[in-house]
Amino acid sequence: MERLQRILAARGVASRRAAEELITAGRVSVDGNVVTELGTRADPVRSTIRVDGKLLKTQRPRYILLNKPRGYITTTKDERDRRTVMDLVQIPERVYPVGRLDRDTEGLLLLTNDGDVANRVMHPRYGLDKEYHVLTLSRPADAVLQRLRNGVTIEGKRVVPEEVRIQRETTEGLILKVVVHEGMHHLVRRMMEEVGIPVERLRRVRLGPLSVTGIQSGIWRELTHGELTTLLEALRLGQANESGVD
Ligand code: URA
Repeated sequence: MERLQRILAARGVASRRAAEELITAGRVSVDGNVVTELGTRADPVRSTIRVDGKLLKTQRPRYILLNKPRGYITTTKDERDRRTVMDLVQIPERVYPVGRLDRDTEGLLLLTNDGDVANRVMHPRYGLDKEYHVLTLSRPADAVLQRLRNGVTIEGKRVVPEEVRIQRETTEGLILKVVVHEGMHHLVRRMMEEVGIPVERLRRVRLGPLSVTGIQSGIWRELTHGELTTLLEALRLGQANESGVD
């Protein structure tokens, strides 16, 4: 969801200031209701927005999978001028990242301008798996893994992972697979800290039906129609919009 004046400005209806004036003058409606409050948010993809009764063309929905490298922050802009994921995804539509990966976390990041999809991917109610691979140098004791499986308390909330298992051993160390549904800030690192497993690297490899496999670090691609259909089904959002996807 985005602020209405921002949507109007981004579509070239008017400058941000002039868009605010249109709103306060009662000339803008969202889904049939006149909106005069400036903080109002709307969905640039799904909301029906009219200015003076004239329909604003909806934005083409975009669904992008990025394999985020380490060193990029997940935000649309940064006051300190650090590298952001938006430096890697340059497209005309205004997409934004769904949830966050820490600067030093790599892997799968979904970017979209579809507010419903973004909200549901993040909301634990829809139970979308977030699968992480944690690289750690030495093998954790079974008791430690069991503690993790039993769940840990983060910010007063009990987080019980869907799955914890040793995925494989590599020359670099051991890879632990951890699947969670929550999207709390620094969640996996905090869970590892709780049970005393040092994290060398953290990578998200899967988000529900979407996998990072085949996407090189720093590269993005559009979701295929099949992936979008499966994602929308997983989020109980129904059919994919054929026109919106390559
Ligand atoms: N958990 C973390 O600790 N960091 C991330 O970036 C994602 C999940």
